Amino acid sequence: MGISLENVSYTYQAGTPFEGRALFDMTTTIKDGSYTAFIGHTGSGKSTIMQLLNGLYLPTSGHVQVDDTIITSQSKNKEIKPIRKKVGLVFQFPESQLFAETVLEDVSFGPQNFGISKEEAEQRAIESLKLVGLPEEFYKQNPFDLSGGQMRRAAIAGILAMQPDILVLDEPTAGLDPQGRKELMTLFKQLHLSGMTIVLVTHLMDDVADYATAVNVMEKGHLVLSGAPKEVFQQVTLLREKQLGVPKITEFALQLQKKGYHFESLPITMEEFVEVLANG
Ligand SMILES: Nc1ncnc2c1ncn2[C@@H]1O[C@H](COP(=O)(O)OP(=O)(O)OP(=O)(O)O)[C@@H](O)[C@H]1O
Ligand SMILES: [Mg+2]
Repeated sequence: MGISLENVSYTYQAGTPFEGRALFDMTTTIKDGSYTAFIGHTGSGKSTIMQLLNGLYLPTSGHVQVDDTIITSQSKNKEIKPIRKKVGLVFQFPESQLFAETVLEDVSFGPQNFGISKEEAEQRAIESLKLVGLPEEFYKQNPFDLSGGQMRRAAIAGILAMQPDILVLDEPTAGLDPQGRKELMTLFKQLHLSGMTIVLVTHLMDDVADYATAVNVMEKGHLVLSGAPKEVFQQVTLLREKQLGVPKITEFALQLQKKGYHFESLPITMEEFVEVLANG
């Protein structure tokens, strides 16, 4: 069934002099089996939405539905706990959440917290660490002795060890080198192909075009555009108004268009562009 948001608004520190409204009346659906991206200028509310998807934040008004569970401002922790397992949230800069003495303990903490035995949790942790490509020599190390990229992998493994149905990734590759980015994006693609629903916040339009099946565009707490990446990236003027770009290859096609080259529709991936030229 996936996740649906119905008229969701969210206000930080509601009822205090510091209150600030971060989301306004959002209605959208994250379909089961989709790879759904969220894009938007800094401060547009992307991270806030991600924390609503697994019940970490409760909507100030409206509701979030995950499969059969409805989350409202009145929901109790006990009702939400199963959602936390179903929807795995990898925070923006997740390495700041590491806490245990060793990488293995850290990664096996989540499943143990949900009642899995220590042995099985460690088994799951090892599988997840293998998936994210963290070598065995690091398992017994203190997570804070790892490099930034290795810490990021350990933090992602911690969420994967919970075996979520839906994986929510808030800028998971920010600050990584190109090789590290590519490896993680390939892992998320494999997880998606194996049936996991992926939700991705990113500033990289190429990643949206290359991997996502749906994209939501946010501006100042409002959802301003949704659709398949191919449709959304045709709206070049609107995206620029929102201080967003288009994929590099789309930009290239636009430059060619200025010189008189005609495209039926703007290509958004390299493969598509090559097809257009080869068949043109
Ligand atoms: N803990 C908080 N307390 C008060 N206001 C907050 C808090 N976290 C975020 N906000 C505000 O809510 C709005 C949305 O923030 P959010 O972090 O969701 O944006 P974002 O789209 O994820 O931005 P970025 O691309 O920079 O990560 C911003 O105006 C921000 O200042
Ligand atoms: Mg954010």
